[in-house]
Amino acid sequence: MMDWTDTHCRVFHRLLAPHARLYTEMVHANAVVLGDRDRLLAMDPVEHPVALQLGGSEPALLAQAARIGAERGFDEINLNVGCPSDRVQAGRFGACLMREPALVADSIAAMIAACTVPVTVKCRLGVDDDHDYGRFLAFIDTVAQAGCRAFVVHARNAWLKGLSPKENREVPPLRYDWAYALKRERPALAVIVNGGIVTEAEAMAHLAHADGAMLGRAAYHDPYLLHRLDVAWFGGELRTRADLLRSMRPYVETQLAQGKALKHITRHILGLFHGQPGGRAFRQILSEGAHRDGADWTLVERAIAATSPPSRIAA
Ligand SMILES: Cc1cc2nc3c(=O)[nH]c(=O)nc-3n(C[C@H](O)[C@H](O)[C@H](O)COP(=O)(O)O)c2cc1C
Repeated sequence: MMDWTDTHCRVFHRLLAPHARLYTEMVHANAVVLGDRDRLLAMDPVEHPVALQLGGSEPALLAQAARIGAERGFDEINLNVGCPSDRVQAGRFGACLMREPALVADSIAAMIAACTVPVTVKCRLGVDDDHDYGRFLAFIDTVAQAGCRAFVVHARNAWLKGLSPKENREVPPLRYDWAYALKRERPALAVIVNGGIVTEAEAMAHLAHADGAMLGRAAYHDPYLLHRLDVAWFGGELRTRADLLRSMRPYVETQLAQGKALKHITRHILGLFHGQPGGRAFRQILSEGAHRDGADWTLVERAIAATSPPSRIAA
């Protein structure tokens, strides 16, 4: 998620959810080809399996970016056909490409030819007042014919005029039934449902109708949800929040030794004790202390301690 996720975030999420497939935020193909790759494509080996999400609509440029992403070790290249922001529309990529299936298909074909990892798409159901399942299916079929075998479906329309990106994640109604119908009618395609999933039960319920569920905001704000889901889905022991966080210590200390600031890592961790006793104190200690010079792991321990006050001995 742009401006939210980065490699530190994915390292943390990997710890919580060892079996999840992680996705980067969208990076424009042009930036991958011409920009600071070490920063834009930073990735830690523990992130695998991890997909690089690209934005763009020029097949040759997307192909170059896909090749670079695969060479850097990403396990999948995903094309964003769902972002509704004005900036993205002006650049003729993101959700407005839902209306240009042939261009998306050309892009996918070029990306597939340029790299050896799977190339997938994240899309919406349509844009503006398209409410035609047949049109959605025709989009998918055109792109599938170019070789795309997996679609992450953010199961609502994108309204390109009149709504902010934030409203575009909330206002257009969710229609999971379209994603389910797609899976029923095109069983050979992998269909992953996205949009509005906030509990383990909701995520698990999608599995009866689709191949997977993608969580965005809920996973970021309440990251322990990822851990509960991973255990519910794949088995294993539920670990405590404190235990999980302490296993980040070697990573954090390595990053600090390399001159990275603690705040860049802890900003992703603030929600770990969401809804728990001391959760607010945990967040406050980290957000106030992590930007100070010299902030180190002791701050994290202080924040953890705030979530389990020492037990009082009754007289
Ligand atoms: C701050 C923010 C940034 C986002 N950036 C991206 C992005 O880069 N690529 C993408 O495919 N979706 C992006 N999204 C959309 C989410 O991936 C997801 O599709 C959407 O929020 C609906 O799922 P959710 O209800 O689980 O959050 C972003 C969402 C937010 C809140």
